[in-house]
Amino acid sequence: MAKNRSKIVYLCSSCGADFPKWHGQCPTCNEWGTLSEFKVSNTNSSRINTEKKETHTLEAILHKEEVKRTSIGIKEVDRVLGGGVLSGSMILLGGSPGIGKSTLALQTLSSFEQNVLYASAEESEDQIALRAKRLNVLSSNIHLSSENKIDEILNQVSLLKPQLLIIDSIQTIFNENLDSLPGSVSQIRECGQKLLQLAKDEKIAILVIGHVTKEGVIAGPKMLEHMVDTVLYLEGDERNDHRILRSVKNRFGTTNEVGIFQMTTLGLEEVKNPSELFLAERRNDITGSTIFPSLEGTRPILVEIQSLVSNSNFSAPQRNVNGFDFKRLSMLLAVLEKRMGYKMGMKDVFVNLVGGLKINDPAADLSVITALASSEKDQLIKDSYVLIGEVGLGGEIRSVTRLEERINESAALGFTNVVAPKSSVNRLKNKPKKVIMHPISHVVEAFNLIFK
Ligand SMILES: Nc1ncnc2c1ncn2[C@@H]1O[C@H](COP(=O)(O)OP(=O)(O)OP(=O)(O)O)[C@@H](O)[C@H]1O
Ligand SMILES: [Mg+2]
Repeated sequence: MAKNRSKIVYLCSSCGADFPKWHGQCPTCNEWGTLSEFKVSNTNSSRINTEKKETHTLEAILHKEEVKRTSIGIKEVDRVLGGGVLSGSMILLGGSPGIGKSTLALQTLSSFEQNVLYASAEESEDQIALRAKRLNVLSSNIHLSSENKIDEILNQVSLLKPQLLIIDSIQTIFNENLDSLPGSVSQIRECGQKLLQLAKDEKIAILVIGHVTKEGVIAGPKMLEHMVDTVLYLEGDERNDHRILRSVKNRFGTTNEVGIFQMTTLGLEEVKNPSELFLAERRNDITGSTIFPSLEGTRPILVEIQSLVSNSNFSAPQRNVNGFDFKRLSMLLAVLEKRMGYKMGMKDVFVNLVGGLKINDPAADLSVITALASSEKDQLIKDSYVLIGEVGLGGEIRSVTRLEERINESAALGFTNVVAPKSSVNRLKNKPKKVIMHPISHVVEAFNLIFK
């Protein structure tokens, strides 16, 4: 009989890789002094399993229909997940302290018809029950547990056979066979692996909550993100009560999909029209502000881009950016300086995406560069304009994806002028009726149009 023996490995606290020998520098991520000794359980040793296991054809697997999606009943969450929770899948939900992870997790439980288990070592059963009462998540098939030992949780699962298991959080559960503390790289890795095995073997959907580090990434080995099927982040602006749920990895749906919520006493409520929310406090008498129809995942959302350019009092001028890529901003400033003759070298530059939204879409370049120019010239941009386009190093405007959807969302919110790349406008199948199109191929053309 196989003994449950343990072995010594050296784990890197930076990348989570393990080695049989100690190294001063991690051979995988090249960080120095990150390897420490850990005892790991050796239950599934490398012995060849003599038990015969059949293989199955793809067709047979597809006809079994065991894999099914369950709708959460919260449309925004369902869309971010790619249409609901898939049985046998493991989802990792990360977010800053107090952002609403436990609230969202609890709210997802009400739509399940079979048993669900909420295992929270962070809070007592009474605390969870109180929150559930406030959120009105009351159903007889919701089971609570405040267990923190992974093996005990697995026992509870084998008794209850839940459709969904929630672990709140992966940093608080541990395996007794390891001598490291809960939350350490080895514990998170071990528990993560056990949960993954459970999800695949028992076809249970598992939602694991994870804390994030100061840098905003999920604490623990990066491997955890590779292991799971879906990685979600709950983000928010501390000053606002809205929250953004974003999928950064999804094996069964599109990534970068976002769901927008408002935090209320009754929990996270869906925001039906996010563009309206993001533009609610917009003023049209401020220079340096542009509107950009961003495409987050499958849905267009209008965002306000604000910029402020002022004379610097420092020898090294400040560059401050919120929600937009810093390197991209530097590139746009260089284009402004070199191609458009703006003197940005001695200016402090601030760029902010209103509402805490973050965008990676290069189509925002034109909006950002125009906002910068508007602030520098102190000249207003007419409030009926939206600007879309990727800016190249020569100041040329490059094509963007899914222009039609961006135009429709802009028109729906009452914007009547769309400045967009000529190449993308030429490719439009239907000529937009509700807006005036301004096709351009260089930043100069956009500035001539906007600042005439
Ligand atoms: N009665 C209430 N009314 C409105 N909002 C509330 C109320 N109680 C809590 N909240 C909101 O819920 C948030 C806490 O939610 P939750 O406990 O789900 O966060 P969390 O991400 O799980 O936090 P942690 O990292 O501590 O586990 C608070 O920051 C607050 O915004
Ligand atoms: Mg919590």
